[in-house]
Amino acid sequence: MTKLSVNINKIALIRNARGSNYPDLLQVAADCEEFGAQGITVHPRPDQRHVRFDDIPSLKQVVTTELNIEGYPSREFLQLVLKNRPHQCTLVPDAPEAITSDHGWDTVKHQQFLQQTVKELQDQGIRVSLFIDPIPERLEAAKETGTDRIEFYTGPYAHLMQQTNSLSSTVEKEAARSEAVIPFSEAAAFCRHLGLGINAGHDLNLDNLRYFKQHVPGLLEVSIGHALVCDAIYYGLKNAIQLYLRELE
Ligand code: PXP
Repeated sequence: MTKLSVNINKIALIRNARGSNYPDLLQVAADCEEFGAQGITVHPRPDQRHVRFDDIPSLKQVVTTELNIEGYPSREFLQLVLKNRPHQCTLVPDAPEAITSDHGWDTVKHQQFLQQTVKELQDQGIRVSLFIDPIPERLEAAKETGTDRIEFYTGPYAHLMQQTNSLSSTVEKEAARSEAVIPFSEAAAFCRHLGLGINAGHDLNLDNLRYFKQHVPGLLEVSIGHALVCDAIYYGLKNAIQLYLRELE
């Protein structure tokens, strides 16, 4: 089973636009769960433009499924995570000014730092996942850090899948789709061999999610924010979540 963790950063972004508590982030988190989401993800960034550091303690109280806090492991971020003890912490190598995450860890280069950080989190009972590209030597180095899981950065997959929309031949389309997913299928097989749990996220949407799920065996969790919230504008939050869950069946 692949769990759907809804990233609610965009909800916080809308709330912050007016300085009031509308929409109510905690209510949205609870509603996402009621509508079927099996997890809630937040990504507090240093500028706190979406989820703020002070949202985390109340979210921890409200979330009854799994809370996943993702972000760059600065000392400030780690203190927040260690204090609030979410079910999972996903470490992401994004720069403070990043608009969104756009690459995974170079786990070979940062192995020692990651190893220490993973241990610090695991010692507090927090499951750890490392955001990563599907590159065998980086997966091997990820394993060496002691992490429980990796999260595949699926941006390049989503980009290639979108390009296939302009192809009219079914054969060409399938070949291009296959090319987009193969690095992840192969990396997933390698993760299973290494004993690493597999999550995935970034730019996943209703057009590309099912194909990814079908071709990446052992996918434990996807975290989806931007597209799901955009779809909720048209379909409503409950329908949007149900549509994503259907793709994961
Ligand atoms: N995973 C990570 C590590 C991310 O940084 C993000 C974006 O905050 C996501 C998943 C979700 O990406 P999207 O908003 O495109 O669904």
